[in-house]
This record gives sequence, C-alpha cells and structure tokens, in this order.
Amino acid sequence: MFHTMAYMKNFIKDKDIASITPTSPFGVKRVCSQIDFARNNLIIEYGPGTGVFTDYLLKHMRNGSRLIAIERNKNFKTILQDRIHDPRATIINDSAENVLETLKACRSGEADYIISGIPFFWLPRDLKDRILLNTYRALKEGGSFLVYQTCFQTDQHLKVHLERFFPVVHSKFELRNIPPLRLFQAIKGSQSPGGNGNGNGNGNGSRSRRITV
Ligand SMILES: C[S@@+](CC[C@H](N)C(=O)[O-])C[C@H]1O[C@@H](n2cnc3c(N)ncnc32)[C@H](O)[C@@H]1O
Repeated sequence: MFHTMAYMKNFIKDKDIASITPTSPFGVKRVCSQIDFARNNLIIEYGPGTGVFTDYLLKHMRNGSRLIAIERNKNFKTILQDRIHDPRATIINDSAENVLETLKACRSGEADYIISGIPFFWLPRDLKDRILLNTYRALKEGGSFLVYQTCFQTDQHLKVHLERFFPVVHSKFELRNIPPLRLFQAIKGSQSPGGNGNGNGNGNGSRSRRITV
C-alpha cells in the first residue's frame, strides 16, 4: 500500500514515471529470476521508483554483492534514501544515460546485471541510443540488461534497438501485472556494440559495425 500511494502521488506530476502503479510482486520475481543470486554481483537498477525491485534485490543478494540504484525523480530518490539503510546499496539522483560517470564516482567496475523500468517507448531516439550504448559499456562481458516495459509497445519501441547493440536478445511476457509486462534480457557479447550483425536491428548481416551516438 505504501508503494502504491507514494507512486501514484508522484505519477501525477512526472510523465517519465510512465506507469500508474508499481510493478507487481509477480513481475519483480519474474525479472529477477534471471539473476544468479548465489554469486556476488554488482547490480545497477535504473528507475527504482519507490523501490519494489530494490527491496527484492537487497533481500536476495549475498553480503558481498552491491546495488547502485539510479533514479531521475528527486522525490523517489528521497523516499528511497529515507527508507533504505543497507550498506550494500547506493542511491543516486541522476539519469541512466550517465551510468558510466556514476560507476566511476562509485569506484565500481563493470556490472553483472542492469535492471531497467525506464519507459523506452517515451524516449527520443538519441537519448534511447545513449542509454543503450552506455548500458552496454557498463556491463561485463556476458552480463545481462534486464528490461521490463508495458506490453503495449511494438518491437520498434525497444527490441530492434536492443538488437542493434546486443548480440543476444530474449523477449517474453508477464501477464500478472497491471498492465501486463513485456520483458527483455539482452546479453553483452565479446564484440563492440553492433558487432552481432549489420547494426540495423535485423541481425542477419555479417559485417561488424561500431555504433556511435
Ligand atoms: C515504470 S516506473 C518503474 C518504477 C519501479 N521500478 C517499479 O517497478 O515500480 C519508471 C521509473 O523510471 C524513472 N526514470 C525515468 N527515466 C529515467 C532515467 N532517464 N534515468 C533514471 N530513472 C528514470 C522514473 O522516475 C520511474 O521511477
């Protein structure tokens, strides 16, 4: 109830929050089922909101793991900071596109997982590209970018863009959420971004092309 009230109050004032209610426990569990909690991980969360994922991650992470949550909305950042007092967690008020600067400021290496709820369908193409490129760079080889979006969006909103940067992209649906979710897992390869194909999202080319934004 706390999450829903705090969330809706801020939703009215900020279009970038994009979804009217926090992600359901089913959605949170399904996204996080891609994480190997038996290992020590560096996890980055984009757009934690009131912290439904943050709470789940901190509950399941090992003591040697670390979580960096990057939230653009100042009210949500304050809510999280007032509520979460866990030495494994760092909460930053910034935009996801600045993830590389955040990692540097936190003296952290590359991440094992980056989880994102930010509304990609809403973002202009240049910002979307900057976030995807910097996300790719912020991940370890073999690391995963785990994205949850509302199910209304088409492949053009995000999937084809993920495929321009990441060699492997899986997609599925989680219906036990209002509205249902479209989930993606994009895995970083050993090549430079776009090295999976011809860089135009159809993944059937053989030439490697570095994407710059
Ligand atoms: C759909 S809500 C998800 C909130 C929460 N993680 C949940 O699952 O209930 C999207 C969140 O992303 C944040 N956000 C939007 N654009 C962002 C950006 N560029 N960088 C970081 N956070 C952003 C919004 O403020 C909001 O908290």
